Amino acid sequence: MLAVSPFNQLALSGVGPIKDVMIFDTTLRDGEQAPGIALSPEDKIRIAIALDDLGVDILEAGFAASGETEREIISEIARSNLNSKVCSLARAVRSDIDAVIDTGIDMVHTFIATSDLHMKYKLKMTPDEVKAKAVEVVEYAKAHGLEVQFSCEDATRSDLDFMKDILKSVQEAGADSVNIPDTVGVITPRAMGYLISELKSVLRVPISVHCHNDMGLAVANSIAAIDSGATICHVCMNGIGERCGNASLEEVAVNLFANYGIQTVDMSKIANTSKLVERITGFGLAGNKPIVGKNAFAHESGIHVHGVMSNSLTYEPFKPEMVGADRAIVIGKHSGAHSVQGRLDALGVDFPAENMQELLATVKKIAVGDKMIDDAELLAIVDNIVWRNTTKTTAVSLDELTVLTGKNTTSTAVVTVTIDKNDKRTAADVGVGPVDAAINAIRKAINDKITMEEYKLNAITGKSDSICEVTVMVKNVRNDGALAVGKAVGLDIVETSVDAMMAAINRDYARRRDA
Ligand code: KIV
Ligand code: ZN
Repeated sequence: MLAVSPFNQLALSGVGPIKDVMIFDTTLRDGEQAPGIALSPEDKIRIAIALDDLGVDILEAGFAASGETEREIISEIARSNLNSKVCSLARAVRSDIDAVIDTGIDMVHTFIATSDLHMKYKLKMTPDEVKAKAVEVVEYAKAHGLEVQFSCEDATRSDLDFMKDILKSVQEAGADSVNIPDTVGVITPRAMGYLISELKSVLRVPISVHCHNDMGLAVANSIAAIDSGATICHVCMNGIGERCGNASLEEVAVNLFANYGIQTVDMSKIANTSKLVERITGFGLAGNKPIVGKNAFAHESGIHVHGVMSNSLTYEPFKPEMVGADRAIVIGKHSGAHSVQGRLDALGVDFPAENMQELLATVKKIAVGDKMIDDAELLAIVDNIVWRNTTKTTAVSLDELTVLTGKNTTSTAVVTVTIDKNDKRTAADVGVGPVDAAINAIRKAINDKITMEEYKLNAITGKSDSICEVTVMVKNVRNDGALAVGKAVGLDIVETSVDAMMAAINRDYARRRDA
């Protein structure tokens, strides 16, 4: 199922066994604070239920003091019979604790800033005042029967001795756990390890960690904290959160599972939970987002596809099914015969080997830019090649095509065709649109008695960058009333329509010669 680095285990020898880690999910609080995310009560409840089903231990459902609606949502979540413990954020002020008590939940996460920067410019309080406030609020919350987690906001820019002092004091006041936020994502993994070890040496309550991703180290810092003794980890699904987000739930969970053998959540539900949060928040994931991005298990280049088809662990750290995801063998401009053949095998298509080069050439021609060819498009190309190869005649070739079109202009086309290698003809015509103009010009060049009996256009994927498939049925190519069918696939509607028309004309020429 997985093949991670053996050095991970080697590096852990000498470090005591890492205990179970509790997942403290803050998708509905810090995650919702991300610019652009605003969740309705129904959205929050749906996400809470999904996160509970995923198996998070603690759910920070919101910030009770922010308003009546928020309190109602928190209460509603708490009434939903979840296994996760429901918690609310609260500043270190009594009125915020009262707001949490009003919701009827059992746990509060209360915080006050401890860095000089925050104490001086934001709180305008001295360190002694901050410490007194922290202790008072923890005592107050405990006296009201709440489980308390206490956070030193901006911990990673705070004075270590002051933090040890305040954290020992809140521990004495009854705090059940303490949390170390890297509020603006400024610490490095090694420093985080040092900080947690230092704090662990003076505390007996569990230590939690809350890492932001401003410098891209949120997950690494969370893991470093756990490596050094933290046993609770704050995360958000899809890594959403203030500014550059929080440590992502899925990345932390997969790292703990794959590299430390610690199961925190139901791994197989990760992909679906991520999709639900993406859909509801409208916060789209980058294709290369680890674990849950659309490229996480997608392979296009020939070498990688070959490797993955022989053993997927060659180019994947673990199998996608471990997190409930699917592998995608993408057909694009880097695809080789292995990728295409693999896709055809998976689709159960028996494609003649002698036509593989033609198929690869068509794929490369169509997969321009970042265009990917999906299964339905691949099947349309395959069908067209098989159809094309039933009649090989190219008695009539299209040498040139120019089409002029626009808004409030008469579409005009000029074509040059050659019949039987030496009869070169150029003709121009107009039409109701560019396709009609091009078809009329071809008719004029070859035989203006040709009639279009049927024209069908199908955009395979239904998207604007889809391959289109055109089928035409024409009559009278050689003035005998016979019908001929032509088909083509391509990206450009005009070019593909013209290709289909030329295919029909050549079919008719082939019939005449065979007869
Ligand atoms: O990032 C942070 O410091 C926070 C606190 C409220 C804990 O989210
Ligand atoms: Zn935060």
